[in-house]
Amino acid sequence: SDYQEPLRAQFHFSPKRGWINDPNGLAYYKGEYHLFFQFNPYGVNWGNMHWGHAVSKDLVHWTELDPALYPDNFGTMFSGGGVVDSNNTSGLGNNGHTPLVLFYTAAEKSWEQGLAYTLDGRKFNKLPNTIVNKITDGNRDPKVIWHEPTKRWVMVLYVTEPGDLHTMHFFTSRDMKSWEFASKVVGGKGNDRYMHECPEFFELAVDGDLNNKKWILTGANSQYAVGTFDGTTFLPEEERLFSQHGRDYYAAQTISNEPKGRRIEIGWWRTHTNQGESAFNQSMSIPMELKLKQTSKGMRLVRKPVEELKTLRTKSTVLRQQNLLSHTQNPLSGMRAEMAEIKVVIKPQDTDSIRVKVRGLAITYHTAKEELEIDNVRAHAPLINGKQELTIFVDRTGVEVFASNGEVFMPINYNLKPTEQSYELSVYGGSATMEKLEFHKLKSIW
Ligand code: FRU
Repeated sequence: SDYQEPLRAQFHFSPKRGWINDPNGLAYYKGEYHLFFQFNPYGVNWGNMHWGHAVSKDLVHWTELDPALYPDNFGTMFSGGGVVDSNNTSGLGNNGHTPLVLFYTAAEKSWEQGLAYTLDGRKFNKLPNTIVNKITDGNRDPKVIWHEPTKRWVMVLYVTEPGDLHTMHFFTSRDMKSWEFASKVVGGKGNDRYMHECPEFFELAVDGDLNNKKWILTGANSQYAVGTFDGTTFLPEEERLFSQHGRDYYAAQTISNEPKGRRIEIGWWRTHTNQGESAFNQSMSIPMELKLKQTSKGMRLVRKPVEELKTLRTKSTVLRQQNLLSHTQNPLSGMRAEMAEIKVVIKPQDTDSIRVKVRGLAITYHTAKEELEIDNVRAHAPLINGKQELTIFVDRTGVEVFASNGEVFMPINYNLKPTEQSYELSVYGGSATMEKLEFHKLKSIW
C-alpha cells in the first residue's frame, strides 16, 4: 500500500508523489484542518509550483486531495495564507456558505498577489484579476489576518527593497480585494535573513493574561519580533529572537480559525527523503502549540507538541525516580521502537553530560555549558529549577526535541537506520537523578 517507502516519515505529513516545501493557507474550515503546501506534482525537486492540498479532522491523520491552485497566465503559485471570511466581507460567500479565502503570489512572471476561494473546501476559484500589484521583483508570501479592533483585514507581504534589504509591508482592506499600503518593517540585509520570506503575524496573551497581549512577527527562518500593533503599524519591543534551534526548519505558518483558539504551527522540515527510488520528497513538522511567556530574559515564544499526538501512543512505559551513575545500567535497555515519544526529567548533580541515544543518534546535554548537542548542531538549553526536561519525537527521518520548558525546539533531520531500534540513557563523569521517564511507542498515521 501507499506510504510504506523506507524513508517515508510515519507521523509527519509528506505527499504521495512529488516535491513539497512551505505549508500554505493553514486554516480550520467546515470541520477540517486544511494544509496547503508548495507542491511540484511532476518531480522530486523544486519547480512548477502549485498549491497542494491535504485535510485532517484531528491534526494527526492527513488525507491528500487534488491540488488546489495551478499555475496560470500570471505565474506559478508561490506561498501565502488562508482565512475564513465569517462575515462575508468579501461578498464571495453565498447561500449561507462562508468562504475560505486563500492569498497566493502569482510568481516568476507578474509577481502580483492573487485571491482564490472555496465554499466547500474542495473546489477552488480564483478571482479573474490579481489584487495587489507588484512592488519589486520577487515580492511574495502574503499572510492575511483579521484585526478585530479596526475591523479590517491586514496583509503582511515580504518585499526585497533595493540594496537587498528584507522588509515586510503591511496593507489593510475591508473587502479582501482592494488593499491599501499601511506601513513597513525593515529587517536584515543580504545574508542577514531577519524578516526574510514567509511572514507570519499573530497575537498572543502573555502568560495567558488576556489583558496583556502582544503581536509576534516572524520571517521564514523563525526569527521573530514581539511588539504592539494598532491595525496600521507594528512596533517591535523585542527583536531578533529565535524560536527554533535546529536544522532546516523553514517557512512555518500557524492555523487560522483554530476551533479551540490555540495558536498551532506547522513548518516545512527539509528532510532527506530524496534517496534511492523515492517518488516523493520532503515533509512537514509535527503540529506544535505556541505560547508567549514572560521569562527573566524577556518575552519568549515557547512551544509544545499538540495534545492530539498522544493518540499515536501504543505501548507506554513509565519509569520512576532513579539515580544514575556513570556506567549504571541503561534504563532504556528494554525499549525497542521505530517511532517513539520520550519524555525525561533529569536533575544533573556533578555529571559532565547526559546522553539519550535514539536509534544510534546521540542527543547530548552538556551540563556545565547547559547546551544540547545533536549531530553537530548545538543550542543553549538552560536548566529550569536545576532540571532539564526533554521531549523527543522520533520518526524515520529525524528527531524533534523540546527542552527548557519549550523555549528550545531542535528539529534535526537525520535518516535513522531501519535495523537500529535501540534506546539508551546514560550519564558521564558523575551522577544525575532521573526523576521521571516516559517511553511511548508510536504508531503510523498512514
Ligand atoms: C520559501 C519560498 C517562498 C516562496 C516559495 C516558493 O521557501 O522561497 O518565499 O513563496 O518558497 O516555493
